[in-house]
Amino acid sequence: MDIEEARRLARNKTEKDTTYRHLVSVEGVMRRLGRHFGEDEATWSLTGLFHDLDQDQTADDPDRHAYLAAEWLREAGVDDDVVNGVLAHAHPEFQRDRMSKAVVAADAVAGLLVAAALVRPERSTGMKVSSVKKKLKEKAFAPGVNRDEIAQAESHLGLSLDEFIGLGIEGLQEVAPEIGL
Ligand SMILES: [Fe+2]
Repeated sequence: MDIEEARRLARNKTEKDTTYRHLVSVEGVMRRLGRHFGEDEATWSLTGLFHDLDQDQTADDPDRHAYLAAEWLREAGVDDDVVNGVLAHAHPEFQRDRMSKAVVAADAVAGLLVAAALVRPERSTGMKVSSVKKKLKEKAFAPGVNRDEIAQAESHLGLSLDEFIGLGIEGLQEVAPEIGL
């Protein structure tokens, strides 16, 4: 599935525009991470894009979250690595390789980066690692963002916090036109 078709599917399945924009932000971060590791960018970006595909249907049902998305994705013929990565972001038993671990940290850092971009007049343009790190330390800023999951970039991916945030910013900037950031 190419990215245009994938985004159409994401638009169809999401009910809230904020959900769609979240999906695309994680798509961008995952694409940049996949490239950094010399892995398949298309697989990584689709995993990011689809990770919360069923968010608006399963928000109140965490046991079903990601399983419904996995069903839709299998029906659509999406690659099993992508389906596994989607399951992995919500259910640790599926975290079997670098990509399926990366999606957890990418999900969290994308939340922080989008929140940080929204309070800047120039949005993600010119965003700096140092200013994002300040926001990360402010507990009252974007309190829903799981700081421990961001820290997993070090233990699970071997990336320093600076490197990880830097790659995340670049990934977000690549998808910024699609989500108004
Ligand atoms: Fe997410």
